[in-house]
Amino acid sequence: MSEQTLSNLSREERRFEPPADLAADANVKEEAYARADSDREAFWADAADRLDWGQKWDQVLDWSNPPFAKWFVGGTINAAVNCVDRHVDAGNGDKVAIHWVGEPDDDTRDITYAQLKDEVSKAANALTDLGVKKGDRVAIYMPMIPEVVVAMLACARLGAPHTVVFGGFSADALASRITDCDAKVVITSDGGYRRGAASALKPAVDEAVEKTAGPDGQSQVRHVLVVRRTGQDVDWDDDRDVWWHEAVDNASADHEAEMHDSEHPLFVMYTSGSTGKPKGILHTTGGYLTGTSFTHWEVFDLKDDDVYWCTADVGWITGHSYMVYGPLANGATQVMYEGTPEKGRWWQIVQDYQVSIFYTAPTAIRTFMKQGREIPDGYDMSSLRLLGSVGEPINPEAYVWYREVIGGDRCPVVDTWWQTETGQIMISPLPGVTAGKPGSAMKGLPGVGADVVDDDGQSVPDGSGGYLVLTQPWPAMLRTLWGDDQRFKDTYWSRYPKQGFYFAGDGAKKDEDGDLWMLGRVDDVMNVSGHRLSTTEIESALVSHPKVAEAAVVGAADETTGQAVCAFVILRESAGDGGPDIVEELRKHVQKEIGAIAKPRQIMVVPELPKTRSGKIMRRLLKDVAEHREVGDVTTLADSTVMDLIKDKEGSGAAED
Ligand code: WTA
Repeated sequence: MSEQTLSNLSREERRFEPPADLAADANVKEEAYARADSDREAFWADAADRLDWGQKWDQVLDWSNPPFAKWFVGGTINAAVNCVDRHVDAGNGDKVAIHWVGEPDDDTRDITYAQLKDEVSKAANALTDLGVKKGDRVAIYMPMIPEVVVAMLACARLGAPHTVVFGGFSADALASRITDCDAKVVITSDGGYRRGAASALKPAVDEAVEKTAGPDGQSQVRHVLVVRRTGQDVDWDDDRDVWWHEAVDNASADHEAEMHDSEHPLFVMYTSGSTGKPKGILHTTGGYLTGTSFTHWEVFDLKDDDVYWCTADVGWITGHSYMVYGPLANGATQVMYEGTPEKGRWWQIVQDYQVSIFYTAPTAIRTFMKQGREIPDGYDMSSLRLLGSVGEPINPEAYVWYREVIGGDRCPVVDTWWQTETGQIMISPLPGVTAGKPGSAMKGLPGVGADVVDDDGQSVPDGSGGYLVLTQPWPAMLRTLWGDDQRFKDTYWSRYPKQGFYFAGDGAKKDEDGDLWMLGRVDDVMNVSGHRLSTTEIESALVSHPKVAEAAVVGAADETTGQAVCAFVILRESAGDGGPDIVEELRKHVQKEIGAIAKPRQIMVVPELPKTRSGKIMRRLLKDVAEHREVGDVTTLADSTVMDLIKDKEGSGAAED
C-alpha cells in the first residue's frame, strides 16, 4: 500500500504565537532542541540532575542490549524522597502539595508537603508491618482521594512496585491484574463518591481476592488495607483486612528511606493491547522520574507559584506521570478532584483555587462544547495561563473552543502526544517557543527522536503520512511487559528491526512545514477505493459543523470500495433533531471540508457513543453496527446500554450515491 495515499487532506492556516511574557521567561527555550541534538545523553543527564540521587550514575544510557534499555546505570534514587522529603528539607514543608476537593460539597482538604511526608512515612511503616518488602507487588484500587497518592508513594519508598487498577474496573479485571503481577497486598477503600452517590469498592476487592485463590483455597493476597471514605457497611475478614485509620494513623512518622537502584521497578500499569490479555507496562525508577519531572516542568512551564490541575484519574498513566510523580517531584501545588465533570463544577474549582495550568482530555472538552459556553462563561477563570490536552487527537474546533472559551484567548494550548508505554510526553509544542496550530501536536520535544515513516521505515517527505515511530531511546520508556519479554519485542520492536525503531501503533502525517498530525491508531485508518483516510480527520470535519457535538467514524467493509466511511454523530443540544435533511447536510459538509472521497456512505444520528471508562470511543462496536453484525463484547464500556440505543437507530441515515 502506497504511503502517498495517506493523504494530506485537511488544511489549517491559524497560528497562535506564544504570549510574549511567557516566551521571555520560559523554562525551556528554542536552544534546547539544538543542545539535545548535539548530545542527547548529556541533555538527559542534565534533566536527571534536577533530582536528588543517593549515588550518582556512572553511565547515562546502556543500550547495548536493545530493546532493553538501562538509564542512569549505577545510580541510586528513591522516588518518594524526591517527590516529598526533599521539598521539606529545602524549607518548603508548608507549601500545599494537594488541594483536594471531594465530590460532596464542602468536603475539602489541603495537604502540605510536610503533612504528605508524615503520611507517606506512616504508610510505609504500616505496609512494612503487613509484611511488604522491597520487590513485593502491591495492587491499589481506590477512588480519587489523597490516600491513593500516599499509598503509591509509600510503595515507591519501600521499592514495592504498585499496580494501580482504575476504580471503575470490574472485580474480574482486578483479579487478572492481581494474578498477573502476583500482588501480595491490596489497598482499597470502602467506596468513593461518584455523581453524588456513594459507590462501593471493597466488595469488588473481596470478589477479586476470592477469584485469585489457588487449589488450596489460599489467595496470594495476604492483606487488604482499607481506607474508610464513605462509611458504607463492609464485609470483614479479621485475618486479612486492616483499616487504614488504625494501621497507618497509629504508625510512626519516622521512616528511613532506602535508595534503590535506578532500574528498580517502580510500577506496572496495565493497558489493553490487540489481544484480550492486558499488557503490564513496566516502568522503573530513575529514568521514569527524570522523564516525567523534566517534561512536566518543560511542557507546562511550571513556576513556583503555579496551581496545576490534571483532571485524569490516578488509574491511568496520565494520573501517574502528571498527577503523582511529575508534579510532586517538581514540588508543585496541585488540585485533585474526586468527582466527574458535572456541569460547571470544574470551572468553580478553577475559580476557587486560582488554577493556572489545566490539563485535560479532548473528550471532556467536546462534552463541554456540547453543553454550551454559557456554563464556563459564568466563572472567573482569569487565573489560567496554560492549557493542555492529552489522550486522543484534539480536532481544531475543540482546540479553538478550548483556547477561546476556557483560556480566554490568552492561554497557549499544548497538545501532548504520548502513551502508557512512553511514560512521559514525547510530542508537544513548547509553550514559550512554538506558534501553535490547532490540531497539531507539532514535533518531538528536545531529546526525543520522533518521525513518520513508510512500510520500509523510510522517513516520509513533508506533506505525506505513514507510521509514527520513536527513533531513539528515552528515559521514561517502558522497560518490558511484566513477565513477557517476547511480547514486548514483538509488539513494539519487530516492525522495523533494521532501524531499531519503536513502533507506536499510531498513524501520523507531516504537514508542509514538517509538523506532526496524529491520525489515531493505525487500525483506525481506513482504505477507501485505494485511498487511506483517517477516521480522525473525518471526525474532525464532522465536528466542525455547527450542529455536531461529537462524531465517531469507522471503516466498514464495502464490496466496491474496499472500505466505506460510516459515521455516528451526536448533535448539539441547540440543534434539536437537526432537521429533516441533517444526514445529507453533514455528508455535503464532509465533502466540502475534505473531499468527495471522504464523504460518509452512512451517517447515523445517535444519542450517545460507546466509550470505555477512560473515554476512548470503542470503534470496534460501531464497526459491528455498520457492518450489520451482532455487536461484540460490551463489558469494557462505561455504560453498556449505549449500544442498545445505537442499534435502535440502525437503518436510519443510509444514503447511497
Ligand atoms: C492516543 C495516554 C493524538 C494515541 C497518555 C496513543 C493521542 C494512545 C494523544 C495512548 C494526542 C494520546 N494526540 N493521539 N495528543 N495522546 N493519544 O496509553 O493513539 O492511554 O497511542 O496514553 O492515545 O493512550 P494511553
